[in-house]
Amino acid sequence: MTAIAVEIRPLTLADLGGIEQIERRAYRTPWSRSMFASELGKQTSICLGAFEGEQLIGYVVNSRYVDAWHVMNVAVDPDFQHRGMATRLLERLFELTSGDQRRGYTLEVRVSNLDAIRLYERLGFQRHGIRRGYYTDNREDALIMWKDPVAR
Ligand SMILES: CC(C)(COP(=O)(O)OP(=O)(O)OC[C@H]1O[C@@H](n2cnc3c(N)ncnc32)[C@H](O)[C@@H]1OP(=O)(O)O)[C@@H](O)C(=O)NCCC(=O)NCCS
Repeated sequence: MTAIAVEIRPLTLADLGGIEQIERRAYRTPWSRSMFASELGKQTSICLGAFEGEQLIGYVVNSRYVDAWHVMNVAVDPDFQHRGMATRLLERLFELTSGDQRRGYTLEVRVSNLDAIRLYERLGFQRHGIRRGYYTDNREDALIMWKDPVAR
């Protein structure tokens, strides 16, 4: 696979168009534009994009809760998957939040999404329980994953 020069930087409202395009290709039940706009507008969120030049090729949206950073959404343009983009986006989140000893990291993932589960496990997330019928489109269960705080 050809190496590409990628910059990770915070997302802004100007990126909503690019986000929407990726989101629609990456998910059967995509988030709406307004859901992203709302997360991007929160001071407590960390929203990062991976850019090749000006082209957005992936993103991660994280919300700060009392005891955890919640990874709300991570997606990579299908044309750019399996090149380490999601890994880099999540590693940047860990870098930016390292030393926050009050907060670990949590997320929900479809039990059938084995690629994503493998990615998260490689990054130190562990299986932490099941939410039955969490996904409203097909009543699929969610696997809850947890990663302990990252030391600086
Ligand atoms: C899940 C998702 C975000 C992963 O993104 P990605 O950028 O492909 O992830 P990475 O490239 O970091 O890692 C994926 C695999 O590629 C491998 N990889 C990384 N760089 C690579 C390279 N240069 N060459 C070959 N393989 C590579 C990784 O080792 C990893 O392998 P693994 O599956 O054995 O763990 C992406 O598939 C996606 O957007 N899916 C749809 C949306 C979704 O399901 N999101 C998660 C919801 S919880």
